[in-house]
Amino acid sequence: MPDPLSDQGHVVEALRLAAAEAESYLATIDTAPVRPGGDAELPDAPLPREGVGSLEALNELIAVSRDGATRSSGPRFFHFVMGGGTPAALAADWLSSALDQNAYNWVSSPLAARLEQISLNWLKELFGLPAAWSAVLTTGATMANFVGLAAARRWWGLEQGVDVESAGMSGLPPMTILSSGYVHVSALKAVAMLGLGRGRVRTLSRDAAGRVDLDAMAAALREHDSEPVVIIANAGEVNTGDFDPLADIVALARKHRAWVHVDGAFGLFAAVSPQTRHLVEGVQLADSVTVDGHKWLNVPYDTGFAFVREPEYQAGAFDASAAYLGSEAAARPVFGNLGPEMSRRARSLAVWATLRAYGSDGYRSMVERHLRLAQRVAAQVDDAPDLERLADVPLNVICFRYRPHGVPEDQLDDLNRRVGELVLEDGRVYFGTTVYRGNVCFRPAIVNWRTREQDVDLIVATVRELGVRAVAQAVRASARP
Ligand SMILES: Cc1ncc(COP(=O)(O)O)c(C=O)c1O
Repeated sequence: MPDPLSDQGHVVEALRLAAAEAESYLATIDTAPVRPGGDAELPDAPLPREGVGSLEALNELIAVSRDGATRSSGPRFFHFVMGGGTPAALAADWLSSALDQNAYNWVSSPLAARLEQISLNWLKELFGLPAAWSAVLTTGATMANFVGLAAARRWWGLEQGVDVESAGMSGLPPMTILSSGYVHVSALKAVAMLGLGRGRVRTLSRDAAGRVDLDAMAAALREHDSEPVVIIANAGEVNTGDFDPLADIVALARKHRAWVHVDGAFGLFAAVSPQTRHLVEGVQLADSVTVDGHKWLNVPYDTGFAFVREPEYQAGAFDASAAYLGSEAAARPVFGNLGPEMSRRARSLAVWATLRAYGSDGYRSMVERHLRLAQRVAAQVDDAPDLERLADVPLNVICFRYRPHGVPEDQLDDLNRRVGELVLEDGRVYFGTTVYRGNVCFRPAIVNWRTREQDVDLIVATVRELGVRAVAQAVRASARP
């Protein structure tokens, strides 16, 4: 197969192969082990001089994917915080590959640009954010944090008379960045990528869980009263799903020169239900906000959203122009100049399709189901004599550990780590361990649109079953001479 051109006649057949494989993957996704038990068995080989053509390459790929792909878009994957693709989003995502639009601007693709504009407006409505804010689709929450904090950096520079994008930061003092212990590592990564220094982030916590110490934050703001300050507030902490008090933090910030960036990667979906909306009260008063798409919106990887109150700071942070790129009327935002990437996948097709298909009521219904399921698991944990819940469950994450009678406290971390390994090997459900308040524990997160009672009921049942096995293994190991 010397040249892709000679493969042209196989396009439709190659797509059919992919569709047939997708169909069989999806046919068993509700019940299949999350991890099929193998690995991605592909030998190391030099780059082929002569290719095999699309059909043979596709068949090789399909064979290796059967063992190598986790059923991460299925209902029993509770690790990290990962959604699946709703039917509408998945199909629209396929279409975006087939149409292969470059979502730079209206000239490169009116379809992608218009759908991005509409989707972002709908998302603002869904999350209760003001319509006048500017926004952009990103590859995920890390890049949305990058966008929000880049806008913050521009504001911070201009407050000191410096156009950072043009002049750089030399000569400016280091940025003061405040947060709570809830700050996500991806926000720190964004801070580092922006050259602000992740070590500059001061976490002001009043306890080992990382809850914000508002008095300490007020004191820090007073201490730095002569300079602009950036605050990272957190909506949805990964171990427990808990929230910083956004309204209180914004109120503090408004007494000083402070920008409030809110990382609400999954937590902002609390806004979708009246049951949890109070948890994000105040977000509409922040300066920039991050939300993820591939988490609770359930669009396929990779999608996130950045929202910025003052459009100028976002546009100024990512501006780029060249004669050949042309210019656009103000009503037609150049989305490729509102974030780091210029040429971009048309993520708006999947976002638009899922919002069009299910609307705000559909998302409210899904989120409320997940809230109920999380409470169901919490109750099962509380009823089990060998399990201990370590935190409240305000949203969709249940933080608990295995604590059977008779195992000394100093052995519980190792035991829970071992149970975590057994859970991942077992594959009926899927989640790893974390460390919360110094204890190794589990933190399954419920975000997948497919997840139902029979799926979450396996969480407690599996941990208890594998816990007994792990204790027996430990006893056998200690009895060995
Ligand atoms: C609160 C929070 N922020 C940011 C991220 C990073 O998101 P992404 O992996 O989409 O970049 C996550 C991921 O779990 C998260 O939970």
